[in-house]
Amino acid sequence: MLTPIPAVAGMATPYGAAVHLHPFRNDPNLKRHLVEHTDVVVPMNALKWASLRYEKRRFDFSGADEIIEFAEKNKKTIHGHALLWYHANPAWLDAVRSPVELENLLADHIEKVVGRYAGRIKSWDVVNEVVAHDPVSQGLWRGGVWYDVLGPRHVEIAFRLAAQADPKTLLFINDYDLEDDSLRTLKRQQAILSIVRNLQDKNIPIYGVGLQAHLYAERQIGIRNLQKFLKSLKAMGLVVSITELDVIDWKLPRNIMERDRLVAAKAEEFLDTVHEVVKPQMITSWGMNDAYSWIQEVFPRDDGAMPRPLPFDVNWKVKPLFETIRRFSS
Ligand code: XIL
Repeated sequence: MLTPIPAVAGMATPYGAAVHLHPFRNDPNLKRHLVEHTDVVVPMNALKWASLRYEKRRFDFSGADEIIEFAEKNKKTIHGHALLWYHANPAWLDAVRSPVELENLLADHIEKVVGRYAGRIKSWDVVNEVVAHDPVSQGLWRGGVWYDVLGPRHVEIAFRLAAQADPKTLLFINDYDLEDDSLRTLKRQQAILSIVRNLQDKNIPIYGVGLQAHLYAERQIGIRNLQKFLKSLKAMGLVVSITELDVIDWKLPRNIMERDRLVAAKAEEFLDTVHEVVKPQMITSWGMNDAYSWIQEVFPRDDGAMPRPLPFDVNWKVKPLFETIRRFSS
């Protein structure tokens, strides 16, 4: 097991943003805001299999290189997302049925991708969303090509390979819905703990847990369960990152000032709860500008008003959410 580097007292928590390639290329204000306001850059989709491996026999690093070279030029830290996910895979990958073939593909992928950016990508989401959406009714594991073909060992394989490809990069398990007080979330927290424990028992390096933190404005933060979960992680020597922060505002009132206030208040409730137990390794929002957020498509509002999940509005006007994040990251 790697020993986590203790946070330096008083040192600011880095603020990061995930970067979508299309606006990155087309909205010069996005680059400007990244340069001015972020410490960490995360390619939002460019490192996923669907982007890198659209064709089976050819890697396409063009999008990832573009974002990563920009980040390096501007002295930003880079977080990689993600080496294994059940979603955003090319169709040819989802069609693989042979365990030997799939393991070889994963080995080749991680060796080439982590190897290419070794020493440049500081931390990686090695596995993303491997816990079932609802472990109460579905069992611990998320279905999909990795689990269906390789079984639970897909997680061990991925962490081993990532550590070999870049022994210095920090290896994370990343997942969502870990912060409310439902039984489903409690089971999801327990699933993460059991996966981490299994890796540690086998001496497979794991550095931290990423809380995606796609927060639902209408849900209470489950303070007790979340803090217990974070304490367990801390006791196991793991660090915690906030990796995909945004606030889903589909059930909030339409009024913009009111909505922005409640969005920020939800993030504050969450960050406060986390900070009482651990100082996160970074706080990253899943984009910067409302216009380019995945929430626009995935969590539309009944009244048709535009969702406002991120720190800046469509005109790059700073919102209360950014002030809140900044309070916790400096
Ligand atoms: C989303 C991106 O934001 C979208 O642009 C893309 O179309 C689909 O994926 N959890 C994750 C992220 O781990 O990779 C997802 O990102 C959002 C949910």
